[in-house]
Amino acid sequence: MLMYGVKITGLGKAVPSHKVTNHELSQLVDTSDDWIRSRTGIEARHISQDETTTSLAIRAGQEAVEESGLDPLEIDLVIVATITADYSTPSTACMVASEIGAINATAFDLSAACSGFLYASEVAVNMIRTGAYQNALIIGAEVLSKILDWQDRSTCILFGDGAGAAVYSRTEKNHIIDILTGSDGTGAKAITLPNLASDRTFYHKEEEPRYLKMQGREVYAFATTKVPQNISELLQRVNMEAGDIDYYILHQANSRIMDSVAKKLDIDPERFVKNLETHGNTSGASIPMALYDVKDQLREGDKIVLSGFGAGLTWGSMMVVW
Ligand code: ACO
Repeated sequence: MLMYGVKITGLGKAVPSHKVTNHELSQLVDTSDDWIRSRTGIEARHISQDETTTSLAIRAGQEAVEESGLDPLEIDLVIVATITADYSTPSTACMVASEIGAINATAFDLSAACSGFLYASEVAVNMIRTGAYQNALIIGAEVLSKILDWQDRSTCILFGDGAGAAVYSRTEKNHIIDILTGSDGTGAKAITLPNLASDRTFYHKEEEPRYLKMQGREVYAFATTKVPQNISELLQRVNMEAGDIDYYILHQANSRIMDSVAKKLDIDPERFVKNLETHGNTSGASIPMALYDVKDQLREGDKIVLSGFGAGLTWGSMMVVW
């Protein structure tokens, strides 16, 4: 069976205009700039005021499609990776597709938390490879600030809002070398976000508060073990060594996690792209946002590994030749 090549042809990014510093958060909960910086590497994050997950996704998606040079009518697949969709239905992807004029697209949302962009990319890339689709718009978009408990200092200091987007297009020469994702539901309780409370007219049940809860230490241990394993396995599949890769773009959860992964792979931490200082952890949006931030310094032929990990538990890595 003929398999097509796939390439990233456009990138986009959108963040809310309002920025909140660690110092401002220390007036809300018992924390300090020093604690947050030293434990996470985060200094500030964008927090939505009137921006929604949908509006951020539209802005990022529009920019990516413009950069690709495609007519929106040529986009035949739109996937939005998010855990903070404004509606359970309609999907964010349907609203984005219609707003940007991608009216020929199949559109749906995908839930894989901080690995969402990698999961969505895997679906899109393989759909393009087989010839079923030609151009896919993949967006990671989150307004995490609406599902945080702003009195819980162990979570509210970590997250930010934003959206990142990529267009994948069918090409002769293949640039998306491999993608390897996985999951382990035995770790499901490590990060939870309950869904809608239902009408309990016929049955009474205590509802959990609808906030994101995280066992930070467990997730830290998972990330620093699974991510280097996942990356090593991916590199082995494509016959490469960790040192052959020019840029590592990991989910921006914690600077110390990235440094630990660099150490385990025996790689200079300078090769790890970081934008969490100014953006915090934006879950499904963080990887395409970090790729966007580094795009102007990328040269043709650069080898990039993108790697996500998070709730589920889920993980995934992708190797791209720019
Ligand atoms: N300010 C001050 N002190 C704090 C704060 C805060 N904001 N938060 C916690 N502390 C205190 C704790 O109460 C604890 O005090 P104690 O020792 O008196 O009990 C102490 O600091 C240490 O707490 P730990 O939780 O052990 O801190 P740790 O060094 O593990 O850092 C962190 C916490 C930053 C959350 C870290 O565990 C981490 O990054 N985990 C991984 C998170 C991640 O990768 N998430 C990705 C997925 S997210 C998603 O999928 C949506």
